[in-house]
Amino acid sequence: MSTITTVYSAAIRGIDGQIVTVEATSVSAPQQRLDIIGLPDAAIKESQGRVKSAARACGLPLKKGVLTVNLAPADIKKEGTVYDLPILLSVLDMPGFERVDLSECCFLGELSLSGELRPVNGVLPMAVAARDAGFKYLFVPADNAGEASAAYGITVLPVKNARDVITHFFSRPQIIPTIFNKEDFFAIADDTLLDFSDVKGQEAAKKALEIAAAGEHNILMIGPPGTGKSMLASRVPYILPPITLDESIETSKIYSIAGLNSELTPLLSHRPFRAPHHSLSPAALIGGGSNPKPGEISLANNGVLFLDEFPEFDKHSCEVLRQPIEDRNVTITRVNASVNYPCSFMLICAMNPCKCGYYGHPTKPCTCTPQSRRNYLAMLSGPILDRIDIQVEVNSLDFSELDTSLASETSAEIRKRVIKARNFAMERFDGEKLANGMPLTCNARMQPKHVRKFCLFDDGGRKVLQMAYEKLSLSARGYDRILKLARTVADFDESPMIRKDHVALAVQLRSLDRKYFNT
Ligand SMILES: Nc1ncnc2c1ncn2[C@@H]1O[C@H](COP(=O)(O)OP(=O)(O)O)[C@@H](O)[C@H]1O
Ligand SMILES: [Mg+2]
Repeated sequence: MSTITTVYSAAIRGIDGQIVTVEATSVSAPQQRLDIIGLPDAAIKESQGRVKSAARACGLPLKKGVLTVNLAPADIKKEGTVYDLPILLSVLDMPGFERVDLSECCFLGELSLSGELRPVNGVLPMAVAARDAGFKYLFVPADNAGEASAAYGITVLPVKNARDVITHFFSRPQIIPTIFNKEDFFAIADDTLLDFSDVKGQEAAKKALEIAAAGEHNILMIGPPGTGKSMLASRVPYILPPITLDESIETSKIYSIAGLNSELTPLLSHRPFRAPHHSLSPAALIGGGSNPKPGEISLANNGVLFLDEFPEFDKHSCEVLRQPIEDRNVTITRVNASVNYPCSFMLICAMNPCKCGYYGHPTKPCTCTPQSRRNYLAMLSGPILDRIDIQVEVNSLDFSELDTSLASETSAEIRKRVIKARNFAMERFDGEKLANGMPLTCNARMQPKHVRKFCLFDDGGRKVLQMAYEKLSLSARGYDRILKLARTVADFDESPMIRKDHVALAVQLRSLDRKYFNT
């Protein structure tokens, strides 16, 4: 009866890592053979080849006879390359190696034929899983060490060559751990800031975006080309509260799985901004494929998703977006596995007012017929439009606005107000839960019962509300929407009651309904 050698590694399930056990046994036989169980067929051959060749190149002897390596649990999908290093260690035949305590170590890494460690995708979630499972040491390819170290709380040891691991345990030098530096992480954030003060004029749009950022309201900007819609949208991540380390790890795990983490920025240092083109396939937008990968909506998690040229997005793409917008996570179902990715984002859409783009422009004539204008707007997806709280016009600037030397407000100044308004709202919510058990954290996500509970107005507020309700012939849903918006406006004043000026501004943030949609 031969002994079993156990080495630990990790796999990905959804956006989370999971510990994988690599168990090896050997049975004496005249010929050496390496059997691997628990990997997809195609990956087994390749892994066998790499492990044998790397061991030979590094002068690391493998056990003789029939070697059986089992990767458990069997029911999770494992990609082959991560396990090269732990497989090699599990069948290593070096005097004294069996006495090395590997129980607190977790190993990840693909081997080249010459024994170098190659970087793998998904290291951050696997590092977090190893840490949470109580492992003390994580051996990773040197090129992944920066990313892995962001899972603070586990000692990350960068490995360049399979031989380094052996030297580490048997002699000197020991591998020097890679330390995650929180200060460096936040320092990057400041240099990459895109600032609102770069955008001239457009005060109404800026105010609308500020209110949207405070209540996490989805927003649509309508205006002719070249008025700054894209500029404005790309700056919204910097007026939202700074990303927290936990939010960053959650989103960075998604980037890690998609293979988009670069070594320089192992963790996102600011909220993501994703602007997928309207020609993108629904799978690329929401995630999927035969080997499920997160889509744009998950890459925008804890940040901003910007759909430019909104009417050009096809109906099907908009249809599939609807549920994830509601649920804030998306389930991708495949034949033998389904994975769940978070996708909590603020949605910003932009569009021209008509096909030619110049309807309402002060000097350029619009060449569209009234019918073609209506057709253009009819292309907008109703279900998504229904989830957009704010609509704002972004008009062409006159020369004086563009020429001005007056400094506009910086993102930092706007962000201060956004944070203050959010803090005021958070105190009010005080642990209130949504139907799915998640905490209620912003006005946009209030359900009807929350609107009744939290959107209290005074007499003046009631008067304006009544006027708006009658004049705009609002539905009950439209009425709730105005109330939610007014609640956010009132949060900027730290006012427990919604007053008439708050309602009036909220109504203004919906004025496009009348101008464009109800005509
Ligand atoms: N309000 C503005 N302030 C400063 N520059 C602007 C403004 N609007 C447009 N621009 C300039 O025009 C370019 C195009 O603007 P963009 O944001 O792409 O417009 P849109 O998305 O509305 O078509 C910007 O890169 C910028 O150089
Ligand atoms: Mg644009």
